[in-house]
Amino acid sequence: MTVLLDCINKKINTNCIWLMRQAGRYLPEFRKIRSVNQDFIKLCLNANLSSEITIQPLKRFDIDAAIIFSDILLVPHSLGQTVNFKKDFGPQLDEIDFNKVSSIDETYFVDKLKPVYNAIKKTKDKEELKDKDLIGFVGAPWTILVYMLNQKSPKKENLNHKFKDKKLVEDLLKILVKFLKIHIENQINSGATIIQIFDSWAGLLKEKDYDKYIYNPTIDLVNFVKSKNIPVICFPKGINDYKNYVSLVKPDVISIDYDVDPKKISDSIDIAVQGGLNPNFLIGSKDELKTNVRKYLDIFRDKSYIFNLGHGVLPNTNPSMVDYLVKFVKNYS
Ligand code: CP3
Repeated sequence: MTVLLDCINKKINTNCIWLMRQAGRYLPEFRKIRSVNQDFIKLCLNANLSSEITIQPLKRFDIDAAIIFSDILLVPHSLGQTVNFKKDFGPQLDEIDFNKVSSIDETYFVDKLKPVYNAIKKTKDKEELKDKDLIGFVGAPWTILVYMLNQKSPKKENLNHKFKDKKLVEDLLKILVKFLKIHIENQINSGATIIQIFDSWAGLLKEKDYDKYIYNPTIDLVNFVKSKNIPVICFPKGINDYKNYVSLVKPDVISIDYDVDPKKISDSIDIAVQGGLNPNFLIGSKDELKTNVRKYLDIFRDKSYIFNLGHGVLPNTNPSMVDYLVKFVKNYS
């Protein structure tokens, strides 16, 4: 058994912790590799380097899981849509060529993603991961679709005209569900022990559209992961109603963002919860950090809870604050 699985099943009374974006720009050892690897997609597809980056935070901190260093946008890339990461701008995708995307077959797709699977295989047996989980992940169909049609990170309520083409949206969602399952399956077969589904742009939708674009496609993926006997964590960032999401999608763990009231979640949801803390607290004072970390740990004291953030570690975070956080969480009782 791993610490995280024990935590999910509430078999232990110690706290467990990992952090979204625990490997990334706030670590000087990551920036060192990144400075000589300008092409981010290529870096993700370098199995040796992505395995090394995955382990970097485990060498520094007593965290309970690794998450494979990769990106949700490798899926559009592997469906033939060019993705570039521009400095100080984020991802930029070429305009979608639907005919090209719909002609991609499984062999082509898996071949493109082979380095990710090789990175998982290389990482799972590393000494630093002994008795720890290796988390594999995908973007939820809706969030991947947002990037493929919008071509960059969207601003709230500001999606382009392509979203009005309902047939395009629905056809693309179906293709994405199919390929995301393939990507999940290959990560599991390579050694991922937990899968997290990131729906970073769930908050863009109105509730009347949740069924079609969030619930139904995500349920399909969640059931698929469960059929492999692997726990699945869902992170529908910005969604209005976590309770309803949990009752319909039924993940093993629900990861909450920093805008939701943890007390309300604790009172209304009876599955394992992950996350919540605003990553900005890692940039302020230790006292303020401590007060807010304590709040989450106290509220979820008698529940199954995995400590994490309500979104990823910010690039301007000082690693010494992460060290302080991990030690505080591990020693708090
Ligand atoms: O440590 C980890 O969490 C594992 C690796 C990981 C990355 N991206 C590496 C990364 C994971 C799990 C992701 C998921 C991801 N990627 C999401 C979902 C979670 C979220 O943040 O909402 C999304 C929306 C993306 C798409 C993406 N990738 C964006 C919008 C950006 C640019 C903005 C940003 O946050 O930097 C990326 C780049 C990216 N992905 C970096 C890293 C470490 C930074 C790349 C760099 O060095 O410039």
